[in-house]
Amino acid sequence: MASCSFSSLLLSVLLFLLLRSFSNAQPFSSSRPRGLVFPVHKDPATLQYVTQISLGATKVPVNFVVDLGGKVSWIHSKGGCSTSLYSPVDCKSPQCSLATKSASPVFCVNNTCSLYAANLITHSATNADLVSGVVTVQPSDVIDPTTGEWISGPNVTALKFPFGCETTIGLLEGLPKGVKGMVSLGRSSLSLASQFSAAFRFPRKFALYLSSADNGFVFFGDAPYIIQHSGWQLMSSLSYTPLLLNPMATESWSTAPNSDYYIDVKSIEIDGEVVRLNKALLSINKKDGVGGTRFSTLDPYTAMQTSIYKAFTSVYIKRAKAMGISRVASVAPFTACFNSSTMTQRPEGYLVPTINLVLPKNVKWQMIGTGNSLVYVRDNVFCLGFVDGGSTARTSIVIGGHQMQYNVLQFDIPRSRLGFSPPMQV
Ligand SMILES: *[C@@H]1O[C@H](CO)[C@@H](O)[C@H](O)[C@H]1NC(C)=O
Ligand SMILES: *[C@@H]1O[C@H](CO)[C@@H](O)[C@H](O)[C@H]1NC(C)=O
Ligand SMILES: *[C@@H]1O[C@H](CO)[C@@H](O)[C@H](O)[C@H]1NC(C)=O
Repeated sequence: MASCSFSSLLLSVLLFLLLRSFSNAQPFSSSRPRGLVFPVHKDPATLQYVTQISLGATKVPVNFVVDLGGKVSWIHSKGGCSTSLYSPVDCKSPQCSLATKSASPVFCVNNTCSLYAANLITHSATNADLVSGVVTVQPSDVIDPTTGEWISGPNVTALKFPFGCETTIGLLEGLPKGVKGMVSLGRSSLSLASQFSAAFRFPRKFALYLSSADNGFVFFGDAPYIIQHSGWQLMSSLSYTPLLLNPMATESWSTAPNSDYYIDVKSIEIDGEVVRLNKALLSINKKDGVGGTRFSTLDPYTAMQTSIYKAFTSVYIKRAKAMGISRVASVAPFTACFNSSTMTQRPEGYLVPTINLVLPKNVKWQMIGTGNSLVYVRDNVFCLGFVDGGSTARTSIVIGGHQMQYNVLQFDIPRSRLGFSPPMQV
């Protein structure tokens, strides 16, 4: 997949922006970071995204799966929830009342605040104690006022950081080896975005840059988002679209507000051809919460309700055929697979149909090239990287990791809007 020249063009644009931004450098402060950064890698076996957080005064690094829409972060602790790294939260504590608001139902067991921890990969949930402890985190880079270079400040700690603690091994099922729990980035006051912004008093925003390998990131706080050592600034011009709220919870046990991020996909175009679909499926039904389009880092590929999937796939096949791209036998879980030796190769990659998700005000989310639309399966075979979500899918379109990768996605919770960049790699 040749994609060098497009990336290097972007890189020079970004470097230009970076150099320009020296002039409005902020004073360097170690005690109040302007933001935080966490590396994210994609686990090759499960295709889930994993990050690491240091817990306790001894800074024990713990791996967690990133759950973009989740309400409550949780850790599995076989030996109980009262440890040297964290301890149970009292029912009368402010954290417990926060949990009551954003992660109900909350119970009081033996004066310990208790709630549900969920793994939506296996669709399981279990009781967890609310615990809190010290977390040590790396601030996003700041400009050193003496040298004018981007440097990472000293690590900072948040005290009494709340998360769930569960003791049944079942909740780790389906997660990558070595992972001890999940961190939640959803719209809940217990999520990482809310907790970090409360602890360090920066805006309740975060940005996700997923990659197919080890060089993904999640940034908390505001831009600029600088990638360590390379000076890469992940902030080309963003397009914005409103984030919608589903009034009904996704999980059947939950009585708390929905914490998923939805966008308002109005239609889908492939090389300018509009995919004919039942528009009612694209909006969220206010009574039962069914329908609409949301993001999920737990789904490796975008899943579409069956009728949308069929219409989408058949238009894609037609447009590919018009470009002289021939089909080959399907490779599960995909249906439309193509012979890449029949694709036109250009310096920036293969020439394939462009997919547009059309958003309000005719803002378009573009998937150009193979990076977000096709999945390399084996020599000369690429498949359209979307899957059938079933005819009774609760959410009509669930945008998964493959379609989010290489784009900077900024989730601005107070303004309820999503900023997205064009793909940095195609
Ligand atoms: C409540 O705490 C007591 C004393 O720590 C313990 O013996 C008991 O098993 C606990 N009960 C439950 C339901 O956890
Ligand atoms: C800061 O935290 C990061 C990530 O946890 C770690 O890799 C790094 O070594 C830490 N830096 C210091 C100076 O402790
Ligand atoms: C792919 O296309 C090339 C060139 O047209 C052809 O030689 C090859 O047999 C095709 N492979 C498959 C699996 O169809």
